[in-house]
Amino acid sequence: MKRKGIVLAGGTGSRLFPLTLSVSKQLLPIFDKPLIYYPLSVLILAGIQEVLFITTPDSAESFRNLLGDGSRLGMSFEYAVQTEPRGLADAYKIGRKFLNGSPSVLILGDNIFFGHDFQTHLARAYARKGASIFASLVKDPERFGVVQVDERGKALSVVEKPSKPLSRWAITGLYFMDERAPDFAVDVKPSARGEIEIVSILERYLAEDELSTEMLHRGFAWLDAGTHESLQQASDFVKTLQDRQGLLVCSPEEIAYRMKLISLDQLSRLASDLKQSSYGQSLQAIVQQETGSHHG
Ligand code: G1P
Repeated sequence: MKRKGIVLAGGTGSRLFPLTLSVSKQLLPIFDKPLIYYPLSVLILAGIQEVLFITTPDSAESFRNLLGDGSRLGMSFEYAVQTEPRGLADAYKIGRKFLNGSPSVLILGDNIFFGHDFQTHLARAYARKGASIFASLVKDPERFGVVQVDERGKALSVVEKPSKPLSRWAITGLYFMDERAPDFAVDVKPSARGEIEIVSILERYLAEDELSTEMLHRGFAWLDAGTHESLQQASDFVKTLQDRQGLLVCSPEEIAYRMKLISLDQLSRLASDLKQSSYGQSLQAIVQQETGSHHG
C-alpha cells in the first residue's frame, strides 16, 4: 500500500513572537521560499503523493491559499486543523481518517533536511516494515528526543528530552510508520509537559523490535527554525548554498518534476507564473537546462 504524508504545522510559534503573532511559523520565509516548502520537498522526494497538512484554525486559510489542492504539483493535498498543540502523536489521531489504513510519513512543518544521498535514506525507510526514524548529531541533545543505537545502528532506547542523554543523536522530526501508528497514538498518555509524545509511539515499535534508525552523518544538515537565531541561520545556509551551486534547495516544483509527478511543460508554466522573482527565474533556468538536455 502506498504511504501517505502528514505535515504537522500547528503550534503557536511563541519563541518567534512577534513574528508569529499573526503569521504561522511555517509560512515565514527561509530565504526565498516559505518554511513549509522544505518539509513538503522531503515528502515529495520520499515518493509521497497524498499529503495532509495539519495547521492551527487561524492559519488554515493561508495554507490553502499557498498550497491549494496539490494538483499543480501532480499531488493531492488535504487539510485538517489542530485546535491546540497537544503533542506530535496527536497528528496520528487527527490523521487517522486521512490515512485510512495506509502506512505513513510524518514530518514536522519546521524541519529542514539537506544532504547528499538523502533519497537513498528515504527509499530505505519507505520500503522497511515497522517504523523508521532519522537521527542527527547535535550539541545539545537534552533539547530533543534522543536515540541510543548499537554499533550496527539498531535502536536500543528512545527518550524524550533526557536530562542525562545516552547519546548525542537527536531524533529528527521525520517519522516513517506502518499502518498501526494511529492505533498506538490512541493509547499514549500525556507526558510531564502535558503532551502526547511521538516517542511514546516509537517505544511501542521498539518493544516489538521494529524500530530502525537512519543515521544522518557528518555533511548532512538538519535545521529547524524555532527561534529568531535559527530562522536567520537557516536562511543564510540556503542562500549560501544556492548562490554557490546555482541549485535550488528544497523546491517542491523542481522535485515534483524530477520525481515525474509533473511534465516539463507543467514545470515551465509554474516557473513562468513566478518569473518576477529570483525563485521563478531559477525554475526557468531548470526548464532551459532540461530542454537542452532533451534535445541532445
Ligand atoms: C519534537 C519531538 C522530539 C524531536 C523534535 C525534533 O520536539 O518531541 O522528539 O527530537 O521535535 O524537532 P518539540 O519540538 O515538540 O520540543
